[in-house]
Amino acid sequence: MRITVLGTGTVGRTLAAALAERGHDVTVGTRDVSTTMARSEPDAWGNPPFAAWSADHPDVAIAAFADAAADAELVVNATAGTSSLAALEAVGDGLAGAILVDVANALDFSGGAPALAVSDEGSLGQQIQARFPEARVVKTLNTMNASVMVDPAGVGGGDHTVFVSGDDPQAKEVVTELLATFGWTDILDLGGIGTAGAVERLLPLWIALLGTLGTPAIGFKVVR
Ligand SMILES: NC(=O)c1ccc[n+]([C@@H]2O[C@H](COP(=O)([O-])OP(=O)(O)OC[C@H]3O[C@@H](n4cnc5c(N)ncnc54)[C@H](OP(=O)(O)O)[C@@H]3O)[C@@H](O)[C@H]2O)c1
Repeated sequence: MRITVLGTGTVGRTLAAALAERGHDVTVGTRDVSTTMARSEPDAWGNPPFAAWSADHPDVAIAAFADAAADAELVVNATAGTSSLAALEAVGDGLAGAILVDVANALDFSGGAPALAVSDEGSLGQQIQARFPEARVVKTLNTMNASVMVDPAGVGGGDHTVFVSGDDPQAKEVVTELLATFGWTDILDLGGIGTAGAVERLLPLWIALLGTLGTPAIGFKVVR
């Protein structure tokens, strides 16, 4: 599949590498290619500069948001959640008809500890679907650390749950098949994009668990 991953941070890199390993034609999107490739310092999380990652992944292309998704069948939103609408606006027409996998969380770091930056009723997933009605938005993978997204077996042998929310059944089917290639077996369809708020509001619990358990190797399991 032709896949564009919007985002050069931990999540964008992790998903782009995992998708390329599985034989997909992957492009990573960024605001400005020359600025991103010129960075020479580790990012805020200590990741090496993007150019170093890119040199290790010559099979993954890089393009500006405006060009990155021109012919993509599936686009992943792995941009900072409070800037995702701006990033997607920059992508523009490339989103029409595409499956848009939204893994972002809108978090406000201004007060120190991250806080949800969406209203009680709303969600970033719904905002994206409303702003880009021709995209087929599927919210998923936002309830875990990046490394767990592509290696669920690394937590509890893989016996935990990944949620999918979206209005387009065929888009959810494609995303479910993609998740299975990462090793996911408990893929729980919550229903329409209106359910994205429920999974976005798991973030405060995830952050509290990180503090209590001292590890990001955490998974939620729905026992039925
Ligand atoms: N880190 C995790 O383990 C994890 C787990 C679950 C969900 N998430 C969610 O996944 C998303 C990506 O997280 P991350 O940690 O990989 O990276 P991040 O630092 O949250 O986001 C980096 C990306 O956001 C873009 N960006 C930042 N400010 C922007 C702006 N003003 N306008 C347009 N684009 C902007 C950057 O563009 P440039 O490339 O131009 O710099 C970069 O591509 C976030 O929404 C996060 O909440 C993260």
